[in-house]
Amino acid sequence: MKPDIRVFPDLTSLSKSVASEIDVMITRSAKAGGKFTLALAGGNTPRTLYHVMAEDYGSKITWGNVHLFWGDERYVPPNHPQSNYRMVREMLIDQTSIPIENVHPMPTNYPDPEEAAQAYEKDLRNYFRSEWPYFSLMILGIGPDGHTASLFPNSRTLEEKQRWVVTSTSTSEPKKRLTLTLPALSNAEQIFFLVSGLEKTETFRNALSPTVNKINCPATKSVVTCWVDQDAAHLL
Ligand code: 6PG
Repeated sequence: MKPDIRVFPDLTSLSKSVASEIDVMITRSAKAGGKFTLALAGGNTPRTLYHVMAEDYGSKITWGNVHLFWGDERYVPPNHPQSNYRMVREMLIDQTSIPIENVHPMPTNYPDPEEAAQAYEKDLRNYFRSEWPYFSLMILGIGPDGHTASLFPNSRTLEEKQRWVVTSTSTSEPKKRLTLTLPALSNAEQIFFLVSGLEKTETFRNALSPTVNKINCPATKSVVTCWVDQDAAHLL
């Protein structure tokens, strides 16, 4: 699918535009009487977005209508500095009135990450009660190597067609991860990629090339709207 690419001067203006768009989507969903199922990315780029969502829309959004999920998680305790859950809790959850039962973090308290992956899949299946999860919005980043969520290039996890959640191994610490699989990630009404910084320039340009797409750059398998700062977009 040809992505819609929106370029911004910097991460702050990019994040403010994304937050405004998400507010519109949640409001539309609430008016239609539906739930807004939002799957969140980890890492650094979306921190600004989550902060802006809390600061500019925290008291406006009908949080009872929103359910939060994670696209991936580092296999560390929920209060660990590198936990994606902790980052979202600090930037967003603690600043809003979202009911705790609407927050669906990936569990990282099982001795075996494989058990945690199966438990999260069970949680998602209980929530969605359908053949595949269906997210109103999937927010994703792109790593310098082209990975998205914790689906890394050349990894077996890219071939998974049945499961919704699997374990994966990162080259950077924390190595052990949980991640939604490609079919699960791709089942979203809208998919936003947030890409910022000069270190993403090459990756982002490659991720858009049809040739690379055929190889195995997971981030390109379901690009819908790319929200990019001019540093990351300057080779386009
Ligand atoms: C994670 C993310 C990961 C991230 C990319 C980009 O757990 O780290 O989910 O997929 O989106 O690595 O990370 P930055 O936003 O920090 O560049």
